[in-house]
Amino acid sequence: MIRIAVLVSGSGSNLQALIDANLSGKIVGVISNKPEVYALKRAEHAHIQTAVIEHKQYPNRETFDDVMHQQLLEWDVDLVILAGFMRILSAKFVQAWEGKMLNIHPSLLPYYKGMHTHQRVLNTGDVLHGCTVHYVTAELDAGQALAQGLIQVNVHDDAKTLANRVHVLEHIIYPQVVEWICTQTIQHTEQGVLYRGQPLSKPVQFCTF
Ligand code: GRF
Repeated sequence: MIRIAVLVSGSGSNLQALIDANLSGKIVGVISNKPEVYALKRAEHAHIQTAVIEHKQYPNRETFDDVMHQQLLEWDVDLVILAGFMRILSAKFVQAWEGKMLNIHPSLLPYYKGMHTHQRVLNTGDVLHGCTVHYVTAELDAGQALAQGLIQVNVHDDAKTLANRVHVLEHIIYPQVVEWICTQTIQHTEQGVLYRGQPLSKPVQFCTF
């Protein structure tokens, strides 16, 4: 059974969706870089062990990442899930977990990497928006996309309504992708990413309209 760790910094609604999904893998631990976030409560309610590793207590990014790395090794983790984890990871850490670490980003990557995606979509006047589950590589929000959830932007949408609607989709596509990895429906191989045994040339799309 695949052993999963979830890294969080906030409310943890994606963590909750993963807990509720009854995955074929086991969430063996949750790491937060902040001590008082609601995500930790969610983990405790689900009887999942937690570790608070406060980035502020370490002199630099590499040292903080090393402590996280050691914790992941101690838990014997196979898959690392970033779920609202608000720290940039060092190249060394990313390399150590390459092909074994996922993130969800609230935009249709490669568009709108980084922050404030909903407002940027509105400013541009896009009619399509959504979220992307992707492998984590050293370049921010640039690893191979595995799945995308798509919504239509309505004339009455503001950044808040968009965020809420994208969040609902996140809670569907993230557990689905993680389940696909647990069941080897998605495989990260030296030849590239396979989906149902075939090369994945573009992300699997979940369309809400
Ligand atoms: C989500 O919007 C996700 O796309 C982004 O961080 C947020 C996490 O929300 N990476 P939550 O803590 O899971 O509720």
